[in-house]
Amino acid sequence: MPLAENKLRLAVLVSGSGTNLQAMLDRMERRELAAEVVVVASDRTEAFGLERARHAGIPTHVVDYADLLHSDQDFNTLLHRVRHECSVDVVELDERQHILRISEPIRRRERLAKLVLAEHALVQILDCYQPDYICLAGFMRLLTPYFLGHYNQENSYRVINIHPALLPAFPGQHGYQDTFAYGCKWGGITVHFADEGEDTGPIIAQAVYPLWPGDHIDTVRNRGLRIEYEMYSQCLNWIARGQLMMYHEAGKPRVAVADPGYAEVLRSWLALALA
Ligand code: GRF
Repeated sequence: MPLAENKLRLAVLVSGSGTNLQAMLDRMERRELAAEVVVVASDRTEAFGLERARHAGIPTHVVDYADLLHSDQDFNTLLHRVRHECSVDVVELDERQHILRISEPIRRRERLAKLVLAEHALVQILDCYQPDYICLAGFMRLLTPYFLGHYNQENSYRVINIHPALLPAFPGQHGYQDTFAYGCKWGGITVHFADEGEDTGPIIAQAVYPLWPGDHIDTVRNRGLRIEYEMYSQCLNWIARGQLMMYHEAGKPRVAVADPGYAEVLRSWLALALA
C-alpha cells in the first residue's frame, strides 16, 4: 500500500526508554510511515526517549511532574491558580473525571489541580508545534479531562495510546505483567484513542501473541513489543490515508478500518507473534 502524500505531524509523549518512539523514527527514515515527529515531551528529565529524540534532531521538552505534584501549595492558592491560568474549575472537573481514585475529596482535588497545571504547561509546549495527533508512547501519567478535552472533540479524537494488553482486559500500567501473572495463553496489544476513562477509548486495532510454557515475563514483553512497533506505525498510516472511520454503536464511538489490505495486515502481525 503506498504511503499517504500528506505527513501527519506527531507530538510524542514518553516517560521511559522510548523504543516505540524509536520504531516510529526508524520507519519514518525508511519512508514506511507517513508522519513526522515535530516534538517529544516527557514528564521525566531522565526519560531515555528524550535522548533518542535529540539524536534524531527533534525538539524535546520536559514538564517535571514529580516536582509539581510534590510541591507544597496551599489548596486555595492551587484552585485560584488553576482557575486563572487554565480557566478550569477544579470542583467541576472533579465531578467529570473517573481516573483519580483518592477517596478524600480535598486530597483528590489537590492532586487534580496539580495535574491540570502540569498538563497546561504541556499543552502550551505541544501547541507551539501544531501537532495533528498526540501519541502516547509509554507516557505513564494519568491524563485529565482538561488535557483530553483540549485535543478531543465530538467524533474527533487526537490522542492515541498503545496499551500492552487485549483491552478491556488488564487496563492500567502493567499490561504484560498482568497478562503473564494471570496465566493467559494469549496476550494482546491494543492501539486506541484516549478518552476520559482508564484505557477505555475507541479501539483502533488489536493483535495477539501466544504465551508458551516456560516463558519468562521478559520474553513475553519482548514478543509483544516487536508487534507494538509494527502496529503503532500501521495505525498512523491508516490515519494518514484517511482509512479510519468513526461511527456509533450502542451510543458509543467506534472505529472501523477501511483498508482493503486489512486481513493481510492482521496475518502479518500474527506471523510475527508466532515466529
Ligand atoms: C510499551 O509496552 C507500551 O505499550 C506501554 O509502555 C511501554 C513503553 O515502552 N504503554 P517504550 O518506552 O516505548 O520502550
